[in-house]
Amino acid sequence: MNIISLNDENRNEVDQFIKNEWGGPMIVTLGNLYDSSVLPGFIALGNEQIIGAILYRIADNECEIAALYSLVQNRGVGTALINAVIEIAKKQSCERVWLVTTNDNTHAIRFYQKFGFALKAVHIGSFEIIRRLKNELPTNGIDGIPLEHEFEFEIMLKP
Ligand SMILES: CC(C)(COP(=O)(O)OP(=O)(O)OC[C@H]1O[C@@H](n2cnc3c(N)ncnc32)[C@H](O)[C@@H]1OP(=O)(O)O)[C@@H](O)C(=O)NCCC(=O)NCCS
Repeated sequence: MNIISLNDENRNEVDQFIKNEWGGPMIVTLGNLYDSSVLPGFIALGNEQIIGAILYRIADNECEIAALYSLVQNRGVGTALINAVIEIAKKQSCERVWLVTTNDNTHAIRFYQKFGFALKAVHIGSFEIIRRLKNELPTNGIDGIPLEHEFEFEIMLKP
């Protein structure tokens, strides 16, 4: 597996995945609406195919993981992509790397905690805001769990 920066050649495939999975390019996290198609990121390549991608957003000395997916589960793709973003965040003197995931995504909630992220907050009912900013969102998510809250995770970075 190779981890390389997202570039003009591979951006389209990643944007298409985010469109299909999360109704991109516009993404809402914690009430902020932004365009994922202009964010920097990395892709994981296996046999010259994209097998995962991560997008991040640096603002106010903090680095948000805005999107992450792996097409080859349990082979270290997600871990390698997060580590690439942590390295960038450290180089850019970020104080923390953070992300949100929705309450239905129990696999991601498990994965992030095992990786070393700490639960920072549960934003109760925040999906209401997402619904106001984005149309046509389903009522229920993974495993039929009602989509209601965002879980915020963080890793604090040493200066
Ligand atoms: C969450 C997600 C990104 C994880 O990606 P992944 O590529 O499966 O992650 P990894 O392979 O690095 O780690 C997953 C597990 O495999 C293990 N693993 C890593 N390399 C391994 C290997 N070579 N062999 C066996 N297991 C391995 C990890 O230790 C980890 O185990 P754990 O969960 O028990 O700690 C992926 O499941 C995904 O894309 N989900 C759908 C999209 C999504 O939910 N994104 C997050 C939205 S916020």
